[in-house]
Amino acid sequence: MYNREQAKDVFLRYAEQYDMQNILIRHKVEHTIRVAELSGRYAKALGMVGEDTDFAWFLGLLHDIGRFEQARRYGTFVDSQSADHAELSADILFQEELIDRFPKEGLPGDWRIIAETAIRLHNKLTLPETLDSRTRRFAEILRDADKTDIFRVIASIPFEDRVGSSRASFTETEEASPEVMACVLEHRCVPSGIRHSRFEGHISHCCMAFELVFEISRRTVKEEGWLGMLLAETDAEGKQIWTDRQTEQLCVLRQEIGKAWGVLL
Ligand SMILES: [Fe+2]
Repeated sequence: MYNREQAKDVFLRYAEQYDMQNILIRHKVEHTIRVAELSGRYAKALGMVGEDTDFAWFLGLLHDIGRFEQARRYGTFVDSQSADHAELSADILFQEELIDRFPKEGLPGDWRIIAETAIRLHNKLTLPETLDSRTRRFAEILRDADKTDIFRVIASIPFEDRVGSSRASFTETEEASPEVMACVLEHRCVPSGIRHSRFEGHISHCCMAFELVFEISRRTVKEEGWLGMLLAETDAEGKQIWTDRQTEQLCVLRQEIGKAWGVLL
């Protein structure tokens, strides 16, 4: 049986080399542990057993390990202003051989190639068609688990504490552009190049809901309630958060996610 506790210890010891006073680092440790747990849970719910379930959990533990170096080198988690953190994670693990520190006993025989591929692909807009079905399955579980926890991160942690510094200068537009709303109506993620305002950024985060592959992921996201909070029209005090037009667009988004998922949000 795979020794998850030992693997978690290796991860925590690695993370502790970085500045644990830094809020970015502390949030990333929490995110990682949550994604590992969700990945293991989703794998089990999808009928995976034994080594494969542990491997799915392990992928969650490894997927963002390059974030620590990214925070140290650049002080930001904005990939476009620093480095692609998925590539950095895989490079540190498999080229700089950080992976050697982790226990391997109890993982499936083909773990290495699948791990490198799934980690490199975990933040990409879509998965390549050419992936074999087994690699695709693990990559999809990891991506669903990651998105599930990203809704929590976005809904509960202020921007500077989860992203760090950013040079992005958002314009404040009154409404999301037709291009962004086309993504909503077509049920797909918003490419980063067409997001220009804080509100469009907000819409595009919520659009990750369209990309969830598994029923168990959608059910978990609904139960956790963070996406519901992101789609809310009013804050805890009942005050409207967005302008009237933005609120209308958010309402369209909520309806479209409901249609895509076949449930009311
Ligand atoms: Fe990531």
